[in-house]
Amino acid sequence: MNAAMTIYMGSDHAGLELKQNLRAHLESKGFKVIDLGVFEVEPVDYPEIAREVSEKVQENPTSKGILVCGTGIGMCMTANKMPGIRAANCESVATAEMSRKHNDANILCLGGRVLKPELAHQVVDVFMNTAFEGGRHIARVAKIEPQKQ
Ligand code: RB5
Repeated sequence: MNAAMTIYMGSDHAGLELKQNLRAHLESKGFKVIDLGVFEVEPVDYPEIAREVSEKVQENPTSKGILVCGTGIGMCMTANKMPGIRAANCESVATAEMSRKHNDANILCLGGRVLKPELAHQVVDVFMNTAFEGGRHIARVAKIEPQKQ
């Protein structure tokens, strides 16, 4: 595992508990984790957190992001509006692995109301451990960005 990597994390109220659990998990493996909030259970609007984490990942291309809301869906929708962000909402180890190998995902979105912590640990571990395969996927990933006319 590339423990030198910086991971920006963010959640809304529905993802707070899982995010805190995952932060401890990642720090125990030596990752540098920067938690951009939230830190309280008061309801907040997930797009604000998704944008904040996405901006950090845009600024630091070697970093990764983890966003947790109730389902992972709203965080993923928002993050994917940001140039250069490839966010994947993963509920399995298999999709997390492929999101790295084929899609070069740089943000992992998770559902705090969907995933049990044990599975979330496995999903996060494989996401952080798996490299982009490159090759034929490079041109495909490049086409994800809006094309100039
Ligand atoms: C909050 O209730 C919930 O809507 C939010 O966490 C997220 O699941 C949205 O996609």
